[in-house]
Amino acid sequence: MTCPSEEELQRAAEIIKQGGLVAFPTETVYGLGANALDAVAVARIFAAKQRPLASPLIVHVNGEAMARTLVSDWPERASRLAARFWPGPLTLVLKKAEIVPDVVTAGLDSVGVRVPSHPVALELIRRAGVPIAAPSANRFMEISPTTAAHVRASLGDKVDMVLDAGPTQVGIESTVASLHRDPPVVLRPGMISQGQLEEATGMNWEREQDVPEVMESPGQHERHYAPRTPLYLFQTRAELPEGRGVIINLPPDCIAYAANLYAALHAADKEGWDWIGVVEPPDKPEWAGIRDRLRRASVKPH
Ligand code: TXA
Ligand code: MG
Repeated sequence: MTCPSEEELQRAAEIIKQGGLVAFPTETVYGLGANALDAVAVARIFAAKQRPLASPLIVHVNGEAMARTLVSDWPERASRLAARFWPGPLTLVLKKAEIVPDVVTAGLDSVGVRVPSHPVALELIRRAGVPIAAPSANRFMEISPTTAAHVRASLGDKVDMVLDAGPTQVGIESTVASLHRDPPVVLRPGMISQGQLEEATGMNWEREQDVPEVMESPGQHERHYAPRTPLYLFQTRAELPEGRGVIINLPPDCIAYAANLYAALHAADKEGWDWIGVVEPPDKPEWAGIRDRLRRASVKPH
């Protein structure tokens, strides 16, 4: 595995401390990080991504103790979820503490926090000594990066440093769960399913369908995570349009599928086809995150 050296990690931590931007690997996708407590540094993330200020960022921490410094209320459920799923691909939305700058949360009174499981991300946070705000390290509306090469292709010199640790493992973004609502609700599905969250908290969560469209997850734009080439999600080939297209083949297992999805889309997007076709995956809970990303990336077959 590619791995940043001691010197590179130290340099990256210094850049964060001085208010710069570092792209770093997490287990889900690469993040574009800045000191979460430095509003000017965080504003640079929005500029580099050309991201609207109305989209709140996830703050990355190295454990529950640091997470608690960012929130004004840490319910029992948060402890249960943290014990079960952290470090890992789960973001918890909780009532924010004073010290979190408004630019991080897009002015909301809540903040999204997570402990990534990637050793490079954890070491960067430890060395920087501050929580790191980081969205996916791509320009707004593009597919998230799962390799350092994807980051460089999308952001180029807009980032002070890219820590390269090879391809990410999980492959799609974290599950975002709001404990700021009662009952709690999944705002963005991911590889940790609602069923797993319900089991860990011993309660039923609000069903996604029952949540109003314009709720507290701004930045969940309908068309998101999209390649430039039109993507068709299809069940039978008859639904595909005319012209030169490519059908992407991915592993039948959802874990391997997620791990490979964005790299396959990035690769197909570079080849200049008229369209990209993806067979609609099964409508099962463990596929919910993948289905969500594909739906947002796709155009409706005609
Ligand atoms: O796996 C991931 O989550 C990656 C890696 C880098 O950690 N990050 C990521 O960040 O995907 P981003 O900015 O692309 O997506 C952040 C998501 C958005 O859907 C946003 O609406 C939601 O988290 N979010 C963040 N803070 C929130 C808050 N206070 N309330 C509601 N939703 C929030
Ligand atoms: Mg993103």
